[in-house]
Amino acid sequence: SWTMVNIAEESIDAVRAQVGDKRAICALSGGVDSAVAAALVQRAIGDQLTCVFVDHGLLRKGEAEQVEKDFVAATGVNLHVVDAQERFLAALDGVTDPEAKRKIIGREFIRVFEEAARAVVGESAGEPVEFLVQGTLYPDVVESGGGTGAANIKSHHNVGGLPDDLQFKLVEPLRSLFKDEVRALGEQLGLPAEIVWRQPFPGPGLGIRIIGAVSRERLEILRDADAIAREELTRAGLDRDIWQFPVVLLADVRSVGVQGDGRTYGHPVVLRPVTSEDAMTADWARLPYEVLQRISTRITNEVREVNRVVVDVTSKPPGTIEWE
Ligand code: XMP
Repeated sequence: SWTMVNIAEESIDAVRAQVGDKRAICALSGGVDSAVAAALVQRAIGDQLTCVFVDHGLLRKGEAEQVEKDFVAATGVNLHVVDAQERFLAALDGVTDPEAKRKIIGREFIRVFEEAARAVVGESAGEPVEFLVQGTLYPDVVESGGGTGAANIKSHHNVGGLPDDLQFKLVEPLRSLFKDEVRALGEQLGLPAEIVWRQPFPGPGLGIRIIGAVSRERLEILRDADAIAREELTRAGLDRDIWQFPVVLLADVRSVGVQGDGRTYGHPVVLRPVTSEDAMTADWARLPYEVLQRISTRITNEVREVNRVVVDVTSKPPGTIEWE
């Protein structure tokens, strides 16, 4: 639309005016906000921008590839990828407490980003990297100023708290926009639909959707089950009706099942589809039985370790959207 064209052009001009001929760095999370912010800044200052993608191994199936291939193809952005999967697995080894997991993931993320930022700064010898691009939206601005407390029930992780020698000025081109405007802007900028229409996904990723300790094998199981649930939701044409659809692996729970002639002793997964306006409150989504049935049949057929699929019918409050 005309409005979006104007917003895009005005924001690009504003970024150009702010950054000038200096260099900027950006952390891509795989989510829509950082992707749109980066694409916009790329339009404004081109190769003066370097994006860093920390692959912590906690993303869903296909998401790292979408950042590394599709996003780069759509924007031509300079991307610095750090494969930190081993490091995150080692740091999370044996950890079961939800807040401990969040703190570890947040801490490792900052450390890895710091190292990458130092490398980028080093490579740009003589040309200082002065700016850090962040995909802060209007509701984030209001929330952090408003201090309702609700946002602090679980510690959220964002890039922040960098050491003194890595202090950047912030570029926040989405500060006045709401989510739907950011998506429209993303389309305007030619980003892939899979990125623009991605549902909100927590920074700690699948790490807080495995109830129990995180391991490579458990991540593999959850990734497969989650991919089936998402695929069937898309096939049913329901993506835009559902706010979020976490799939949760109860990794320390086993139950008896039967498949063919054999007794199984496998894990349950929980489907947690919700509707919401802003994630502060949510209702459990009444997915059609046929969709639930297809998801259940496929997961138990295709993911060997899972022999039971259950549906979470709790609203928020009292339940949070995520299980940890
Ligand atoms: P809860 O589970 O508290 O989640 O109802 C509300 C919304 O926030 C997302 N979420 C997070 N996002 N870092 C994030 O960036 C986090 O640590 C985090 N924890 C929860 C959750 O997916 C939902 O959209």
